[in-house]
Amino acid sequence: MKKLITAAIALSGAGLLLAACVAGGGSSMSSTGENGISDNPDAWSGYKTATAETQAMNDDDFENPVMPYVDLAAGIYNSRDNAGKISCADCHGAPDDATGGRSGIPMKGVGANYPRFNAETGKPINVELQINKCREERQVEKGFKYEGDEMIGMTALVRMQSRGMPVVSKAADPANELHAAWTAGKEFYYQRRGQLDMACSNCHEDHAGDLIRAETLSQGQSNGFPTYRFKWQKPGTLHRRFAGCNKNIRAEAFGRGSDEYLNLETYLAWRGRGLPVEAPSVRK
Ligand code: HEC
Ligand code: HEC
Repeated sequence: MKKLITAAIALSGAGLLLAACVAGGGSSMSSTGENGISDNPDAWSGYKTATAETQAMNDDDFENPVMPYVDLAAGIYNSRDNAGKISCADCHGAPDDATGGRSGIPMKGVGANYPRFNAETGKPINVELQINKCREERQVEKGFKYEGDEMIGMTALVRMQSRGMPVVSKAADPANELHAAWTAGKEFYYQRRGQLDMACSNCHEDHAGDLIRAETLSQGQSNGFPTYRFKWQKPGTLHRRFAGCNKNIRAEAFGRGSDEYLNLETYLAWRGRGLPVEAPSVRK
């Protein structure tokens, strides 16, 4: 396995992230039971293996580089400058209004409970796609670009209302509407792919806690997204990260919002169930 990871590293070339060799750290980072989650005691957040400097930026909203995007989104949230002449706030109340304004549907809790099942499409819907659903159906406007500043800011604004709330997922239950998506996401997670013939699990399960040069592999959890990455020099969505991890092993990357990545997101939410929502996060 280590050989494979070293190969991944060599192949990723300019990618600073995966440069050089694996210096084994064993599984000493895994924190059994330490997180106090009885249902999923071994889950831990990538925050834990971030550097102290990155953690400090993550924790301080004045330093967190995602906040300017959140400010941009807050302006849009309150704006009636759309064809429907109605703001997000008109229906949902202020982002932190726990009663959810006129619609009675608050932003608080959304980040901890997505993806959800969309009965209209028969597929999972994540926060990004739900925002665009409201944008298109309620505001009669073109949806935000998936990886655009507005979308990243709005996703962060919505998801941060659930900060500290444990991620909830019941998708492993065969009776759950999301079960088929969960099953497909799980298969994707364990399927070897790409020139390097590696699965997500080969890095984020088998080697979580191990060092790849200056980088410690985390469990690849989704609780902090959207994330500002120094490597990107801007914040990005979870699906951007999926695409990056796929490309690092020279595998096909799927589109943002694709069925493949929605299924994977559904599986990851379950895998990280119980972890607190930490959006928006900062990472190397
Ligand atoms: C005309 C009223 C209306 C407007 C305007 C509106 N929404 Fe919604 N929103 C709803 C309704 C109704 C739902 C319930 C699900 C659905 O119909 O899609 C909803 C659902 C949501 C959800 C999911 C909530 C949950 O608990 O699952 C989010 C997130 C959301 N809206 C965000 C936004 C954002 C951000 C905007 C502005 C870009 C916006 N909405 C504009 C009415 C509105
Ligand atoms: C060759 C090893 C490798 C493989 C295979 C891989 N990743 Fe990653 N991934 C990384 C590295 C390195 C990082 C950055 C450090 C970290 O958080 O692990 C990362 C980060 C992530 C993160 C961000 C975690 C956080 O806390 O910010 C997610 C989510 C993720 N990966 C998901 C996946 C998924 C899903 C797959 C399978 C499609 C996958 N990765 C495959 C190496 C890999």
